[in-house]
Amino acid sequence: MKLKSVGIIGIGYYVPEKIMTNADFEKIVDTSDEWIKTMTGIEERHYIAEDKATSDLCTEAAKKALENANLKIDDINLIIVSTVTPDYLAQSASCIVQKKLGVKEIPAFDISAGCSGLVYSLTVAKGLIQSGTYDKILVIGGEVLSKVTNMQDRGTCVLFGDGAAAMVVSEVEEGYGILSSYIGAEGEDDHILSIPAGGSKKPNTVETINNRENFVQMNGPEVFKFAVQAFPRATKKAVELAGLKIADINLLIPHQANIRIIESAMKRLRIPSEKVFINIQKYGNTSSASTGIAMGEALADGKIKKGDVVVLTAFGSGLTYGSVVLKWAY
Ligand code: ACO
Repeated sequence: MKLKSVGIIGIGYYVPEKIMTNADFEKIVDTSDEWIKTMTGIEERHYIAEDKATSDLCTEAAKKALENANLKIDDINLIIVSTVTPDYLAQSASCIVQKKLGVKEIPAFDISAGCSGLVYSLTVAKGLIQSGTYDKILVIGGEVLSKVTNMQDRGTCVLFGDGAAAMVVSEVEEGYGILSSYIGAEGEDDHILSIPAGGSKKPNTVETINNRENFVQMNGPEVFKFAVQAFPRATKKAVELAGLKIADINLLIPHQANIRIIESAMKRLRIPSEKVFINIQKYGNTSSASTGIAMGEALADGKIKKGDVVVLTAFGSGLTYGSVVLKWAY
């Protein structure tokens, strides 16, 4: 049986107004603009207002994606939100987004796959459309990392930002859309990258709060080692599954975690910098929103046109990794 071609038909992204520059962090921890720029590539990131949450960013991005697709929320039959920072622990962000978008009854669920979440979500959405279960799916990646960041830890606080990206996934013209997807995980429980307290293993207590275990903890060098091998491996695998070569890629959109990880992947993949989209300097690491924001910005900048081979590759907590190859459909 011939499977439907499934792809993105609309995209939108949203970042909150407040900007935190490297100079702002110089006043908070023992760091410097030069260290942050050289070691990570980040110059600024966006922070959400106190009274807002992940669902607010996701809702704004979703409205833009629907507009870009020329559709209304009533045309959508499933909402998937990828996030590691939902508004609440026991209620999915996607259900809150459903309510905020003013639609009832359609199913909504979250995916937790760290920064690879958007790549995972696109893979799930494609399968659900190809099976005929759903027709049009809103896939959103949204994060409020600023509220789970330990502002006393210079090794992590300078890295993260807030934002959301949304896309409408649907059947597209034959031969276009998601050509292949490759996702994987290397599960670990050593807290290489996690928020140690606040879950079922270690609910928050006065002690966990005093130890700041309710914030992100990361072994930076370990994540770095994982990322520099997982990134090129996942990209090569997905490109191979699509029956293409690295040279066929028109635009590689990497997870924006660290410029040095991106540069290392570029070298290993032998892909020139003009084919790689980088916006880490403006947003920092926005986890599962990262590749979506970058894709939305690349499209708005005119860097993607119909028929282009666009590859999204991400890695993140879990540890997870994944890559999606698209032949751009509009
Ligand atoms: N300013 C100044 N110095 C700093 C800072 C800072 N903000 N942060 C760390 N340092 C210091 C450390 O204290 C250490 O000092 P010491 O040698 O005196 O002990 C020194 O810099 C080196 O520290 P390392 O952690 O070994 O530095 P590294 O070269 O690994 O760079 C970094 C740190 C940038 C965090 C890097 O490890 C990294 O980017 N790792 C990957 C992180 C990542 O991608 N995470 C996200 C992926 S998953 C997701 O997106 C959720």
